[in-house]
Order: sequence, then structure tokens, then C-alpha cells
Amino acid sequence: MEQITPPTSSKCVWIMSDTHFIEPEDLEIFYSALDDIQELEVNLTGIWLLGDIVGGHDMKTLDKTAEIFVEHCESLGVPICYVMGNHEMDIRRSKGINRFPIHEAALKRPNWHAACNLTDFYFSKEFLGHRVYFFGDHVAEDAGWFTSHGEVVSEGNAKYPHLPEGYVRLKEEMAHETLPIITAAHYAFPGGQRASGLLDHLLPLPKQVRVHLYGHGHIGDPIWNPIDTWEREHTVKGQDLMQYNISSFETYRTPGSFSALLFGGPDEDLDLWIRCHVEKRWVAHYVIPKAETKAV
Ligand SMILES: [Fe+2]
Repeated sequence: MEQITPPTSSKCVWIMSDTHFIEPEDLEIFYSALDDIQELEVNLTGIWLLGDIVGGHDMKTLDKTAEIFVEHCESLGVPICYVMGNHEMDIRRSKGINRFPIHEAALKRPNWHAACNLTDFYFSKEFLGHRVYFFGDHVAEDAGWFTSHGEVVSEGNAKYPHLPEGYVRLKEEMAHETLPIITAAHYAFPGGQRASGLLDHLLPLPKQVRVHLYGHGHIGDPIWNPIDTWEREHTVKGQDLMQYNISSFETYRTPGSFSALLFGGPDEDLDLWIRCHVEKRWVAHYVIPKAETKAV
């Protein structure tokens, strides 16, 4: 792979998942990755953070870690999209407290994008000439429920509000989208690794969707991702549609620190490059062919 390099003049987005930062000291690998990305001199137009970015059970440490991370992300000067994963729920799960410092920062700061409400299961934004739908873990404002590992964790009598109507409505919205679609989430669709039961409600995905990118199933982790441990590429269940596992950035469960760059446009191939920031080299490259032109 080392002789082959991405087309640095094309627009691209940087995609990270499962950084698992708990203490400020954990950010060392992120500083190194930031340098690595900047040295590549790619034409970066966005950062996508696909969940499990921060976690842990101590609020002060969580706030400090998140604050430093947010400021460093902004140093790249591009729009940043953020969804939560199961580890953002650590304090909610253990202490019943809603404290999501990156989400809180994202709602206040100009270059950040996230779900407007903690209860929302998706949001969308345009990148690379595509409508990108982001899915993450979401949570009731008060006690009641939160989602984790692709399921609803119920804390009482409050009902999860999105099934089936919310998912049906979103499927219809996606089917009427005029731009091609990319989906990005903390979890895989069924067919991928450690898939989400909730995302299953969106299947089959409409024809506009070109690819799904996700985290959570850390590549190279034989404990939590034991099936096809090193396989990043799968189809979405029942569809001729590819999904790619781009995780993980953390280095304690997996050998290496992986993130992805996605290049391309609406009428071009999409090029997905996986980089290891420890070895500072490309470790995988996938091509999502351009959509077939319809016969007139
Ligand atoms: Fe996760």
C-alpha cells in the first residue's frame, strides 16, 4: 500500500470513531494524528466524529478532556459533525446524569454540527456533494430511556418515541432526496460488525444511498469484534450496498490507531482510505464506484 497515495487535490473528509478519550493524557495519540493529517496536505472539507469519542465516569475529567479535544479539532478550520456512541452514555448509565460535553459544545460553537436535541436519532448535512445522514446514540432529557449498542435501554415507563413512525418518516425523506446519500453512524447496519438493531428499521435503504461508514466494532479486537476481526468491508443485509468499519482510533484494544479519509463527489467514485497514525501509513483503500447513469 505504501507506494499508493490518495489524490490530495480532491476534496475529502476525515472520519474518526472510538477514540475512547477519558483523561487529557489520552489525547497524545490525537495530537500525533493531527500532525499526521496536516502533513498529508489534503484538501480537507470536514471532520466526522462517529461516537465513543469520550467516556468515563468522572465529570471533571470528562469536561476537561472534551474541552481540549474540541479546541484541537477546531484548529483544522473545517465543519465538524459529531454523534454519540455507547461510551458517551457512561455517566448516564452509572449515575443517571445527562452530561455530554462535546454535544453541548457542538450546539454552541459555530463550526460544529450535531443532533439539535439529545432525543434525536439523526441529523443530516451536505458534504462532498452528498446529503450525509448521521446516526448516533440518543437519550431522553429526563429519566426514561437511552440507546446503547443499537438497542433502547429502558429506565422506567417512558416510551422510546421514534418507533416505528420516526424511522418510517426518515426512510421516506431519504427516498425523496435529490442528492446522493452517504450514511455515517456509530453502529453498522445489519450485515456489518456489531450491528444496530435500531438501524435495522431503516432497511432496505433507498437507492440514493451509496455507502455506510461506521465504528464500534474495533478492527483487530478479538474480544469484542471476534468475527472477521480484521475485515472492514461488508454488505448491508439484503442489499448490494457496501458498508465499511473505520474504527478504531484508540490503541489499547487494538494494534494501531485507525481513521479514514473519504474523497470524491456526486458524479465520481468515492475513495475511502484507511490510515494508521501509529505507523503513519495507509493500510487499506476501497473504491465505491460512481452511480450508474440512468438511460434517457
Ligand atoms: Fe461503541
